[in-house]
Amino acid sequence: MTDNHNVEHIAIIMDGNGRWAKKQGLPRSMGHKKGAEIVKEIAKAANEKGVKFLTLYAFSTENWGRPKDEVDTLMSLLRQYLKTDLSELKKNNIRIRFIGERNMLDADIVQNMHRLERETQDNTGMCLCLAISYGARQEILQAAQKLAALVKNGDLSESDVDIQNFSAMLYTHEMPDPDIVIRTSGEQRISNFLLWQAAYAEFFFTKTLWPDFSAQELDDIIEQFKSRERRYGKI
Ligand code: IPE
Ligand code: IPE
Ligand code: MG
Repeated sequence: MTDNHNVEHIAIIMDGNGRWAKKQGLPRSMGHKKGAEIVKEIAKAANEKGVKFLTLYAFSTENWGRPKDEVDTLMSLLRQYLKTDLSELKKNNIRIRFIGERNMLDADIVQNMHRLERETQDNTGMCLCLAISYGARQEILQAAQKLAALVKNGDLSESDVDIQNFSAMLYTHEMPDPDIVIRTSGEQRISNFLLWQAAYAEFFFTKTLWPDFSAQELDDIIEQFKSRERRYGKI
């Protein structure tokens, strides 16, 4: 691997919706609503910049542990979003896909996810990948379980388990690893996001709360990325 400043894949931990709402004296749900609106804007901007993959962390497996009314609000926003904004992105030649544990989600939501994936599968623009009910540890565990089953059935030998076939069992199997991981809201942690895939990602932490994030700030981060030296362990 050489020093590579192509931005093929950007991943974003969209954090700070609740604090954004609190700052304006609004209920947390309003922060989530505004946050969902920004998604469309950032997806369009990234697509126009020629980014090939944009992965957005929208709901973690741990977020199921929030109070029921907040989870309900987030699920109804998602339900609405699948029908409106995401459908609209089809027109921008964007391919949509979802990663995460679908069996935790209501059947109608899963159906709409399948529909959008199907309807956009031949689009040739950016792939917008939404991480919903996603947890990287769970993703890695299910990959290990699938490989263990192959070994048990004699379809794969233990010594042939390698980085390549492990990666192939992850939700992200057809995607390159992220070049850039951005987290908004000032928190500096990974919160169970792309633990395997982000092995050599460049990290950017911004204090901007997600509903205030902009295409301009995305541009600035891409510019900064170009001056980072990616060494991959070499000298
Ligand atoms: C990110 O905003 C959205 C989700 C995790 C669903 P938060 O809801 O975490 O907002 P803060 O961190 O409380 O401000
Ligand atoms: C991470 O944000 C998950 C998403 C942005 C979807 P959280 O707000 O849930 O993370 P913690 O709890 O601050 O680590
Ligand atoms: Mg948060």
